[in-house]
Amino acid sequence: MVNKTILGISGSPRKQSTEHVLREALNLMEERGCKTELFTVRGKNISPCRNCDYCIREKECILKDDMYELYPIFKDVQGIIIATPVYNGGVTAQIKAIMDRTRAAAAADIDFLKHKVGMAITVGGDRIGGQELAIQQIMTFFILNGAIPVSGGPFGSNLGANFWSHDTLKGVKEDEEGFRSLNKTIKRFHEFLEKYQ
Ligand SMILES: Cc1cc2nc3c(=O)[nH]c(=O)nc-3n(C[C@H](O)[C@H](O)[C@H](O)COP(=O)(O)O)c2cc1C
Repeated sequence: MVNKTILGISGSPRKQSTEHVLREALNLMEERGCKTELFTVRGKNISPCRNCDYCIREKECILKDDMYELYPIFKDVQGIIIATPVYNGGVTAQIKAIMDRTRAAAAADIDFLKHKVGMAITVGGDRIGGQELAIQQIMTFFILNGAIPVSGGPFGSNLGANFWSHDTLKGVKEDEEGFRSLNKTIKRFHEFLEKYQ
């Protein structure tokens, strides 16, 4: 039975490792009876926030770009998976722009993410390239906005799903440890969705 809808956001400008593992994550959620929706920044135009405060006054963003595809989706989902490549030990500029631009969503409805369940997936080219720092950025975004951040738990996943791509799609596909961390995180993500949504 389809009962929950999950939004997956890919923060990679390419159709490569991050999108691949996000699709795997969404498939795992579909196997658990969820409906899924994938939003990718690839080919999209999402400008950084200008802090013009138009959204505070008008309850919408002044920048009429592809972020407007994403704004309405937040309303209809119970869970959010943010997947990002690691760029300089953090999320990509595109993911950061999305996070910052949700200021307009919060201006319109301060509870736009409240009680929704969130998890993170990161993909680094290096084995220890800042994956957990990038996850922390995503978890902070969830906490700030009242979402429930879910980790994979101790003994194998810890903060969430972390992948080592060796900068190739083949590399990520062969990352058994990464998939172990993904499976553990998805299991808990689903448990939290069942309990809190
Ligand atoms: C601008 C830039 C910065 C990067 N910085 C890091 C980094 O700090 N740590 C890391 O492990 N990999 C880094 N990488 C490598 C990517 O994270 C890696 O290639 C990843 O697999 C890309 O994901 P994608 O295949 O989904 O695009 C960087 C890549 C780019 C383009």
